[in-house]
Amino acid sequence: MLKKIFDKEKAMKHAPENKHYADIYESWFETKRYTVKNLLEIGVHKGGALRAWLKYFPIATVYGVDIKDKFDRDKPFDRNRLHFAVGDQTDKTFMLNLYDDIEFDVIIDDASHQVDHQWDTFNFMFQRVKKGGVYIVEDIHSSYWPDYKGGFGKPGTFIEKAKQLADYPNYKAYKKMDDRATHQLIESKPTWMEKNVKSVVFTQGMCFIERR
Ligand SMILES: C[S@@+](CC[C@H](N)C(=O)[O-])C[C@H]1O[C@@H](n2cnc3c(N)ncnc32)[C@H](O)[C@@H]1O
Repeated sequence: MLKKIFDKEKAMKHAPENKHYADIYESWFETKRYTVKNLLEIGVHKGGALRAWLKYFPIATVYGVDIKDKFDRDKPFDRNRLHFAVGDQTDKTFMLNLYDDIEFDVIIDDASHQVDHQWDTFNFMFQRVKKGGVYIVEDIHSSYWPDYKGGFGKPGTFIEKAKQLADYPNYKAYKKMDDRATHQLIESKPTWMEKNVKSVVFTQGMCFIERR
């Protein structure tokens, strides 16, 4: 179903190399389709994906932001349910204040794909995901590509940094852990991020980070 919607709305995430995204999204969201209320997509292009999300999530309001205004206003859209703003994903103050009364069920980063932008934006925008919601980074394979400041195993890429999140769903275990030799507590106070990452899923081209 989502494949057809992406095609019809000409969402860029249905380009031939990303055809599998629709299946991944559909298996992730199939039980949540009727409960998602607010979705933000960073990186809009002409708005194909925003229009597709409107169709897929029947009660959702869909928000978008893009550094360039290419949003196609000639195509009809429901102005009560679709909102678009122009801005840069790396501008933390702008992003934190964007649609600032909204807690998002879903945030998707499909913008510059620069590995440092992906990580930095996640770090300040994850707090805008509501409890139980999910933050999704698309095209994480840019972490392997030099044009995007990536490289296999290169420190600082989105994938390398996001691997660190894998510890957090179990922070209670290691925060309480004694070092067997010294019987010292390894650490004490969990960080906000440790307390809030419920799960991290890496899949082909995408990373899903759920909030507790
Ligand atoms: C792949 S397209 C988005 C496609 C859209 N999500 C879809 O599926 O149809 C990437 C978009 O990100 C925007 N972009 C690039 N750098 C950005 C930045 N720093 N902040 C916000 N948007 C950016 C580009 O202008 C471009 O429209």
